Amino acid sequence: MTNNSKLPNVGTTIFTVMSALAAENNAINLSQGFPDFKSDQKLIDLVTNAMNSGYNQYAPMPGILELRKAISEKFKLLYNTSYHPETEITITAGATQAIFTVISAFIRPNDEVLIFKPAYDCYEPAIELNGGKTVSIQLKAPHYKVDWNEVKQKINNRTKMVVINTPQNPSGIVFSKEDMLQLQKLLEGTDIILLSDEVYEHIIFDGDPHQSACLFSDLKKRSFVVASFGKTFHNTGWKVGYCCAPKDLMAEFKKVHQFNVFCVNHPVQKALAEYLQEPDHYLELSEFYQQKRDLFLSLLKDSKFAFTPSKGTYFQVLDYSKITDDHDVNFAKRLTINHKIASIPMSVFNENGLDQNVLRFCFAKTDDTLKKATEILNQI
Ligand SMILES: Cc1ncc(COP(=O)(O)O)c(C=O)c1O
Repeated sequence: MTNNSKLPNVGTTIFTVMSALAAENNAINLSQGFPDFKSDQKLIDLVTNAMNSGYNQYAPMPGILELRKAISEKFKLLYNTSYHPETEITITAGATQAIFTVISAFIRPNDEVLIFKPAYDCYEPAIELNGGKTVSIQLKAPHYKVDWNEVKQKINNRTKMVVINTPQNPSGIVFSKEDMLQLQKLLEGTDIILLSDEVYEHIIFDGDPHQSACLFSDLKKRSFVVASFGKTFHNTGWKVGYCCAPKDLMAEFKKVHQFNVFCVNHPVQKALAEYLQEPDHYLELSEFYQQKRDLFLSLLKDSKFAFTPSKGTYFQVLDYSKITDDHDVNFAKRLTINHKIASIPMSVFNENGLDQNVLRFCFAKTDDTLKKATEILNQI
């Protein structure tokens, strides 16, 4: 049977490749973005209790109301803004499903979607599957600053959606208030939807406030704000997240959601609804990860790698141009095989595989893992 792939350019992701290479070579794995420590025992106990109490069948389609109410209260507390729990919040199977569903609900053939590169890898295939066209804005290392004039030039009457991600994986940059105001100005008076991937909203450093799209009234009315409990509570394997949007946009989202997953993990939702009652569970996260970033970078200060400290996410980009001008994919493989440390080459997130001699390292690891990793990196 001939198989005419709808995604001819998609192969095995670099995350799978590098993690497999790390396992094969017994290397320290700082490639994939997940913590190597346990999530809070209290949260695990809450899930166990929910299962023992019988919450093991389908949850309501948009998620349990208690959890949607808790999320609504969180928006009030953090951003002084409101999303109605009954009509403007949906619980999803991780941020990935929320992103896929937003794109599927709105993108038609030949619609253009603007994304900023380096970009997380799930946006483009979703756009392509729906017949849309990705229009990329390539940001340049080491500062990855957005040139808003370039963005303005790329917006036209075919532009249906803009995707932003702040704090940004993989670069570790954050959008400032000024960036958000520039974006708001560009979108004013258009029908362009904003997909704001904010999965790292609670991992932001040096006292910078997170500039959520919901803080800007003209952005909020066109935005889907997407979040991930996996990133926030150290349990990426549970795959529970959510998204929020004004009622009319959310109604369209739910039409796709109900035939895509219908609903998501019930006992985990029960547990999260209770766990969220204590805001310290997410408010302490920035400090926790900032200590890890600082430890990682202080141990690398005498290495040959150059860096600008990550402003958010649990990723740090390291520039190796003082070591070699080898292509980043080759260098990342060489580090894994010969030096037993795995990272992700940044070119895979860039337009046309642009190689800027930089690698991405995940520092969501125990201090012991970070110490061992830097001992290796210092010898290179
Ligand atoms: C920027 C970004 N968005 C979305 C996701 C996916 O989140 P989830 O695991 O909740 O699907 C990730 C995971 O790495 C990410 O880095």
